[in-house]
Amino acid sequence: MNSLSHNLLIALTSVCSASDTNSNMEWHTAESGKYRIESLSAATFPGALRVIREAFCQDEAVSIGSEVNKDPAAIEELLELCADAALDGVSLVAVAVDSGDVVAVYQAECSLEIMFLATLREHRGHNLGTILCKLSIDLAKKLKEGPVANMSLTDLGPKFSHMKPREVTKIVPKICQAIWTGEATQKIGRKLGFKVEVKAMMSEFIYNGKTYADRLGDQSSFSELASIVLD
Ligand SMILES: CC(C)(COP(=O)(O)OP(=O)(O)OC[C@H]1O[C@@H](n2cnc3c(N)ncnc32)[C@H](O)[C@@H]1OP(=O)(O)O)[C@@H](O)C(=O)NCCC(=O)NCCS
Repeated sequence: MNSLSHNLLIALTSVCSASDTNSNMEWHTAESGKYRIESLSAATFPGALRVIREAFCQDEAVSIGSEVNKDPAAIEELLELCADAALDGVSLVAVAVDSGDVVAVYQAECSLEIMFLATLREHRGHNLGTILCKLSIDLAKKLKEGPVANMSLTDLGPKFSHMKPREVTKIVPKICQAIWTGEATQKIGRKLGFKVEVKAMMSEFIYNGKTYADRLGDQSSFSELASIVLD
């Protein structure tokens, strides 16, 4: 987790209706209206947590390498981190229009960091991961004009009511960065013009006597720290 966490707390003002926190900003529709991308809200937060629980915690490379996928307590901790990041007001979700289900989620923090990106297995390969990352860059640029969405502690529901509420800040990020832990996100980074700053082999990371690469079953697997300047 990066030390700049919590720097981006956004209130819903200039680009969407300030009067109704549930009338989320809609950013994009994908696949001829099959999916709707919008800012995370109280209404979509439970669905976003489901995506993180089922897709991120089970399939993401570091979650597998460090056995988060097998540890219910670690999953709960990660969900709380997600809830905390949600308060920054810069998270996006993809909603399947026919069912209303949240199927992909992306969370960011300042500088704006892509932290939790996940698509439910059955909705992968529809470009949603790419679109969420692309829109996050657009979102980061829009922050110059003012906050883009609002998420309060109340919006997270009773499960997270013990967390500390946060004040809104209006920091404008200068770069967008991400840690791409798998081939799919590494492809997304290349497509969107991210610059790779550091590359690390998964075989270098050990948890409980076993390398991440061993758990992933791929000795050539690696992670990239990548960034793109926001101008
Ligand atoms: C990574 C993830 C979010 C991608 O979601 P998605 O909605 O399927 O993304 P996209 O459809 O935009 O696909 C992005 C690119 O990755 C490719 N791709 C998808 N799955 C892949 C895989 N398993 N291996 C290699 N490439 C893959 C796609 O073909 C696409 O490339 P292309 O545009 O050149 O065809 C999704 O696989 C996921 O939730 N994984 C588990 C959690 C995770 O690893 N999160 C990322 C942490 S950095």
